[in-house]
Amino acid sequence: MARTLVVLTGAGISADSGLATFRGDGGLWEGRRVEDVATPEAWRADPDSVWRFYQLRRAALTTVEPNAAHHALAALEQRLNDAGLGYRLITQNVDDLHDRAGSTALHMHGELALLRCEICSGRVRDLRSLDAAAHVACEGCGHPRMRPDIVWFGETPYGLRDIQRALSRCTHFAALGTSGNVYPAAGFLAAVRADGAKTWVNSLEAPENLARGDTFLPGRAVDVVPALCEDLFEEMTRPAR
Ligand code: OAD
Repeated sequence: MARTLVVLTGAGISADSGLATFRGDGGLWEGRRVEDVATPEAWRADPDSVWRFYQLRRAALTTVEPNAAHHALAALEQRLNDAGLGYRLITQNVDDLHDRAGSTALHMHGELALLRCEICSGRVRDLRSLDAAAHVACEGCGHPRMRPDIVWFGETPYGLRDIQRALSRCTHFAALGTSGNVYPAAGFLAAVRADGAKTWVNSLEAPENLARGDTFLPGRAVDVVPALCEDLFEEMTRPAR
């Protein structure tokens, strides 16, 4: 089977750029109920609070830069593409740091930079309207309140068909900076492991879904991922026995 690497990233990969993760001390969900900010019900019940939460996160994007882990993954993608080998980056992250580093990322949980109209489904890429108190009207149909194009709890992630296709071809898999709490993404590691893929995991502490057979590399992504990308390139290009 042709070698294909699938990389799944989570909030930990952007932590070294200064963006908060979700779980744990200082995480975005600490002291907050996800039901109050990250569900369609919350948006319907209190759009001003939900909007304020996401406007602060959208504004934070304008203050951060991709780090060494984002750059290493972008360089790995280029090298694997040049070598004619399969590569797919799937991210749960709603920030744009992979994109800014030059990767082609499938944003399965949506993107902070995009706004979506619930009436006409129009989308706009906008990181200029950052006033936490001012909603953004849809230029297409005039609806006064576009929502962040984020996949909230209870909604279906984006790109599941593409993801399924990539996972079914995957011979090498790396889960980087994700706690393995949120499905379906948390299930990818076990699925590819069961199909015989070689698996690598990086995060600060062992994630929920780590199992025997995974190569676990604890530590900060900026310290671990650049060297891991070198190892993955070697693995992918090593002559078959
Ligand atoms: P979490 O906050 O659940 O987990 C972050 C992971 O990153 C943990 O395993 C940490 O150990 C690890 N980590 C923290 N700092 C790190 C660093 N500097 N280097 C490497 N790893 C580090 O974030 P996710 O797993 O991404 O969904 O969360 C998954 C989803 O849950 C998110 O996409 C979001 C959230 O609710 C939605 O908003 C829909």
